[in-house]
Amino acid sequence: MAIIISGKDYVSQHIDSLKTRCGEISKKKVPFMKVILVGANPASLSYVSHKKKLCEKVGAKFEIVEIHPEVEAQDFLKIVDEINKDAEVDGMIIQLPLPSQLKKLDIYNLVLPQKDIDGFHVQNLKDIYENKITESSLIPCTPKGVMKLLDFHKIELKGKDVVVVGRSHIVGKPIFHLMLNRNATVTICHSNTKNLPEICKRADIVVVAVGNSRFYNSSFSHKDQIIIDVGISRDQENKLCGDVDFKELEDCVQALTPVPGGVGPMTVFSLIENLIIATEKKYI
Ligand code: GUN
Repeated sequence: MAIIISGKDYVSQHIDSLKTRCGEISKKKVPFMKVILVGANPASLSYVSHKKKLCEKVGAKFEIVEIHPEVEAQDFLKIVDEINKDAEVDGMIIQLPLPSQLKKLDIYNLVLPQKDIDGFHVQNLKDIYENKITESSLIPCTPKGVMKLLDFHKIELKGKDVVVVGRSHIVGKPIFHLMLNRNATVTICHSNTKNLPEICKRADIVVVAVGNSRFYNSSFSHKDQIIIDVGISRDQENKLCGDVDFKELEDCVQALTPVPGGVGPMTVFSLIENLIIATEKKYI
C-alpha cells in the first residue's frame, strides 16, 4: 500500500497558523482579495467557492467580481485597472480560463505585481527563475503547494530524477524551476514528447499536470515512484478524478496524491498565504 500524500490533512494541520498570521496583520489591515470571474464555467465556480471558504475561514475578506462572458477587452481592462488602483484591495486574481475575446490580452501581467497573489506576473516569476526566493516571494499557488507537500513528507529532491508532465505557465514551467532550484534533475514533457511512458518510468518523482483523466497508469510507473497528481477533470460518470489511475497505482508505487484531497487544497492554501504575504509587504 502506497503512502497517501494528502493535501486535505496538510491544510487541516496548518490552517491555525495561517489564521494566527492573518489575525496579526489584521491589527493593521484585514487582508482583502478580489476574484474576477468572467462567465460561469462550472469548474471555475467550484474553485472560486473553495477559495472564498478558506479565505473567510482565516479571517480575510473576499469578493467576487462577476463579469458578463461577452465583455469586450477594453471594458475588461478598465475593471482590472480599477481594482489595481483600489488601495483597499490587497490581492487580485483573474480566474482562468477566459473567453476567447480576452485571450489576446497579456493576461498574466495585468494584475499589479504587488497584488498578484496568483504569482503569474513576470516580475514575480523572476524570483523562481533566478533562484532568489524569499519569505515574501509570491510563488504560483499550485507549484508552491506541491513543494509544501513534498517538504512536509520530507521527500528529498537533491539529485533526484523528476519528470514534469505538462508545460503550462501556471503549473508545469514554475514547477520545473522550483525543482531545479532544489538540485533535482528535471525533465519536462508535453504533448509532443515521444516515449512518455519510458521517460516517466525512469523518474523518482513525477508531477502530472495534463487534465486527461486517469491516463497515468502502471505502464508509466515503478514501485519506488512518488507521484503528484495535479490534474483534475470529470470522468464519464461525472466523478471528479485526476490524471493518475489511483486505483491501479495505490498498491504499486511508493507514494501518491489523491484527487480530490491532494494538490487542490494546497493550491487554495497557498493562494490565501500569498494574500497574507501581499498584505504584510504593504503594511509591515
Ligand atoms: N484556473 C485554474 N487554476 C487557476 C489558478 O491557479 N489561478 C487562476 N487565476 N485561475 C485558475
